[in-house]
Amino acid sequence: MSSHNSSLSLGADRDKVLQHAAEIVSRTWAEFDDARDHHPEPSAALLAVLTEPMPEVPSDPIESLDLAAEALDSSLTQARPRYLAYIGSSGLEIGALGDLLAHSHDPNLAIYAGAASDIETQAIRWLAQFLGYSSDFGFFTSGGTISNLTALAAARERALPRSRATGIGGHRLALYCSAEAHYSVKRAAEVLGLGSTHVRAIPIDQHRRMIPSDLASAIASDRAAGVIPMAVVATAGTTLTGAVDSIGDLADAAPGIWLHVDGAYGLPAAGAPTSRHLFAGLDRADSLSIDAHKWMFVPKACSAILVKDPASLAAAFSHNEAYIPHDFGDVNAVDATLEYSRPLRALKLWLAFKVHGAEAIRFALEKNLEQARLLYALASDAPDFEVLLHKPQLSTVPLRHIPNSLVTASAKDLSNHNAALQQAVISDGRVYISPAQIDGETWLRPCFTNFRTTTEDVVITFDTIREISEKISQS
Ligand SMILES: Cc1ncc(COP(=O)(O)O)c(C=O)c1O
Repeated sequence: MSSHNSSLSLGADRDKVLQHAAEIVSRTWAEFDDARDHHPEPSAALLAVLTEPMPEVPSDPIESLDLAAEALDSSLTQARPRYLAYIGSSGLEIGALGDLLAHSHDPNLAIYAGAASDIETQAIRWLAQFLGYSSDFGFFTSGGTISNLTALAAARERALPRSRATGIGGHRLALYCSAEAHYSVKRAAEVLGLGSTHVRAIPIDQHRRMIPSDLASAIASDRAAGVIPMAVVATAGTTLTGAVDSIGDLADAAPGIWLHVDGAYGLPAAGAPTSRHLFAGLDRADSLSIDAHKWMFVPKACSAILVKDPASLAAAFSHNEAYIPHDFGDVNAVDATLEYSRPLRALKLWLAFKVHGAEAIRFALEKNLEQARLLYALASDAPDFEVLLHKPQLSTVPLRHIPNSLVTASAKDLSNHNAALQQAVISDGRVYISPAQIDGETWLRPCFTNFRTTTEDVVITFDTIREISEKISQS
């Protein structure tokens, strides 16, 4: 009887199981090199297993791993090259190995954990350098939502000192962001006690960027009404269209107010030569959020928050718990972030920089930017496609197809057709795209954030959308 029958260790089977897991992973990565033409359904046998009651007795680890692999293979995987929905991720191979290693050791980075903590510090430093941000003080978090909340908690404490202790009481605090900011900004206002009605959605210009003069007017009228401006959130890559707010102009329009840059999606492009100029003024931000698990290709979850003033996070988060040592001099991560249990999220990004080098990351970003420009060019040159007024700033390319039979159709019919088209495209299985509501109408919203996507995938996406649109419009 192998030892795993009597303990929680894999015992004598350990190497065999590890070898088997490595074979599954290697097969998966090889398969990801090319997109597949259809999405497999889970087998009846797998579905039966997935409704079984909790097992009391052991199962064979190799058979169990095979079941897990089958479940994942028939699941929606963002790492596939033609998954262009929402803002995908690519599950970078060395990043996945970093996760395996990190989870095997499982340090807790709440307090200084030795060299693992130094890896987090160094990965933050490399990230700051990659983006061109002069402060290298920050921490990894589980996602952009939490990074934004963390930054805005620091902003609240700055705007209304001691509000973490007293609450905001009778004060009214306001947050300013683009009308197309990510909803996590609103969520932060809710969680921090501001209330979402105190989020000012500032109008956007033709390029879908927050208008700085409208921001200045909103701040002035709030001040006149006794409302305290707490923070401005510039979006560096909106989720909807990839618009990058003019960070420097917003800083000019809101002097003395905490400026946070939500770059969860787009900020990696500050490191890419052809898009760097869009982020002018980044260094004037008090804080920034970036999701390495989106457009720096590593697996989820790997977000980071960086701040200019190291004391600002501790001012918002530190607690003097009796069981946490406070004698290291530096701020413990637990005293500067929301979490106590903090996995080593930095390792996958650290390995990505170390193994591939920053130049390869920049190259992959440029490739995605080129793919977006190519899709925009194909669609804007084609009379049966509609695109936004301006070229994509980043890698998101909203578009609509207008089949022959709908050339004179109403806006509503065209929206309904594109909603049906999105469903039909994902049922077809060659390409996975998501819909988006832009100015009240339904669009398709391909987004390129995957290093595996090729130029050929862009052309296949374009042709597939047109082919399926014509087909469903005739049926
Ligand atoms: C601009 C922006 N901010 C914040 C987020 C939230 O990030 P997460 O999903 O990592 O919480 C997203 C997610 O798409 C985003 O696009």
